[in-house]
Amino acid sequence: MDNIYTTFNQIKDRHSKEIFLKQHSKVIWFTGLSGSGKTTLASQLEKELFNLNFFCQILDGDNIRSGINNNLGFSQEDRKENIRRIAEVSKLFLDCGVILICCFISPTNQLREMAKKIIGKDDFLEIFVNTPLEVCEKRDPKGLYQKARKGEIKDFTGISAPFENPENPFLEIKNTNPNLDQTIKEILDKILPHITMNQ
Ligand code: ADX
Repeated sequence: MDNIYTTFNQIKDRHSKEIFLKQHSKVIWFTGLSGSGKTTLASQLEKELFNLNFFCQILDGDNIRSGINNNLGFSQEDRKENIRRIAEVSKLFLDCGVILICCFISPTNQLREMAKKIIGKDDFLEIFVNTPLEVCEKRDPKGLYQKARKGEIKDFTGISAPFENPENPFLEIKNTNPNLDQTIKEILDKILPHITMNQ
């Protein structure tokens, strides 16, 4: 890029910040259909991690799309730009030593691969919230599936836009299980070894 002189090398490094926060920073990336339970899992996980003295931040589709990405829609091109910006922002958080919990449909392998590449494969922990479309549609917490079926929303994931199941996620949650606590425990068991800093 012309006329851009980054100063990343002059900024206090990530490791010093991780030591300060007594944790290893990672991006926990929830992917799944709208209504699959990503945000519910993420907020419960954040609470548990906070109680265990971990310093986290949630980034969530609806929030990000009402702010930094409020100029983007749901075409393939816009979803790509949505995920690209989110991955770049995630990287900034990683460099601050923060544990990031991301909740984005991120519907295709290509999008998730792009995020993984930007963030770095060792820092990208992908959790697939594999709730079947029928269940998400029945829950329909925001009434969006109903609108999508009526044709009032176009390019709706699962109805008129694709969702590809991740091929090799770090963890897969079959969230038809009504026991939230058990699911959170399963997630914690998997991620704690990656974020815990041994003194
Ligand atoms: S992504 O596909 O680009 O990763 P993102 O996670 O940011 O999507 O946003 C998804 C949220 O936007 C959904 O939870 C839903 O509330 C809302 N939404 C509005 N229109 C659509 C649509 N056409 N497809 C999917 N989600 C939509």
